[in-house]
Amino acid sequence: MNPYRKDFPILNQDPTIYLDNAATSQKPQSVLAAEQAFYEQTNANPLRGFYDRSIRATEVLEEARRSVQHFVGAAEPEEILFTKNATEGLNLVAYSYGLSHFHESDEILISIQEHHSNILPWQMVAQQTGAQLKYLECEADGRFLPEKIQAAFSERTRLVAMTHVSNIMGRVNPIDEIVRQARTCGAVVVLDAAQSVPHMPVSVRELDVDFMAFSGHKMLGPMGIGVLYGKRKLLDAMPPFLRGGEMMESVTREGAVFAPLPHKFEAGTIPVAGVVGLQAAIRYLEAVGWEELMRREEACTRIALEGLLKIPHVRVLGSEKAVEHGGIITFVVDGVHPHDVSAILNEDHIAVRAGHHCAQPLTRHLGLTATTRASFAFYNTEEEAEAFVKSVKTVRRRMGYAE
Ligand SMILES: Cc1ncc(COP(=O)(O)O)c(C=O)c1O
Repeated sequence: MNPYRKDFPILNQDPTIYLDNAATSQKPQSVLAAEQAFYEQTNANPLRGFYDRSIRATEVLEEARRSVQHFVGAAEPEEILFTKNATEGLNLVAYSYGLSHFHESDEILISIQEHHSNILPWQMVAQQTGAQLKYLECEADGRFLPEKIQAAFSERTRLVAMTHVSNIMGRVNPIDEIVRQARTCGAVVVLDAAQSVPHMPVSVRELDVDFMAFSGHKMLGPMGIGVLYGKRKLLDAMPPFLRGGEMMESVTREGAVFAPLPHKFEAGTIPVAGVVGLQAAIRYLEAVGWEELMRREEACTRIALEGLLKIPHVRVLGSEKAVEHGGIITFVVDGVHPHDVSAILNEDHIAVRAGHHCAQPLTRHLGLTATTRASFAFYNTEEEAEAFVKSVKTVRRRMGYAE
């Protein structure tokens, strides 16, 4: 049996087999308790008060920032900015760095595997600055070939924004090669780590990326809290993204002097309960350990992948190897719309995602309009993966096909 399930209240309340972990993860009791404890014991607006409780709220906030710093291997806590989610972090870089740095002669490179959150901000930057938006294409199985990576860069490339793990393919992308190429033309690298940070050790120091965004809610933490990592020398030189309270040192009628990092990028009241929830999530993940977590996710993925590959009329996107799926199995059933696949699985109490998964350019690049996705977490069981395969086997018959 899976020893972690007892820690997740929602997993024990009904028979749902939850296989939509790439959309959002479930939350362990310790995360829920950390949020509640903040409101019961420490609640005050941080950074503003000179009384004990506000000072304590500030300490709690900065302690959590250090936890995140160590978790992703950042050099300094000031390089960790709290955002609402990965989307806000990517927009922060686009609005603040992108709009202030690019011109008509510049190129912004993104990959075809990006989530809309890492496409739309760059489309906006391209439209407003005149810079050209270019796409790095992938193969049908999701791989990025070294020669295509090399060819996508030019001496005009100023920024490359890329997902570490696609929310459709699940494969870990060759970020080391991207960073190597980016360094040859002086481009900055923005990593969308929304799907990698929850499932594998990720170190900004080792990857040497310039910015990295991720969401708390996909890694056992609460909704409404995310992280943007940025190298200090870049963040220091960037203008604020949002303006308001706590991000300034002084304000006159005409202007303002902005606060130093990280506060310059954290306008308004920070959701400290969410921040401590994220810290509790990090502690939980560290207690489980990456080896154990990855072993469990891979075991479920293998059962699902190998099971689906044997079903006629079912096609799985991406690699045929479970280790190259990061817990994500995206598939199509011939002649059955993914919404119907999902509805049929729902009748068997299996929750999967259907649609374009906020990655329409990739879905189209693969010649599709929609797909179904099952995504596993370490708290899923092998029995759940087997039940998923069994249910998919029945889909065509339940839609009226002979086989
Ligand atoms: C690869 C990727 N990037 C970005 C996001 C956006 O995350 P959020 O909605 O938490 O901002 C997602 C969410 O599914 C994702 O899968």
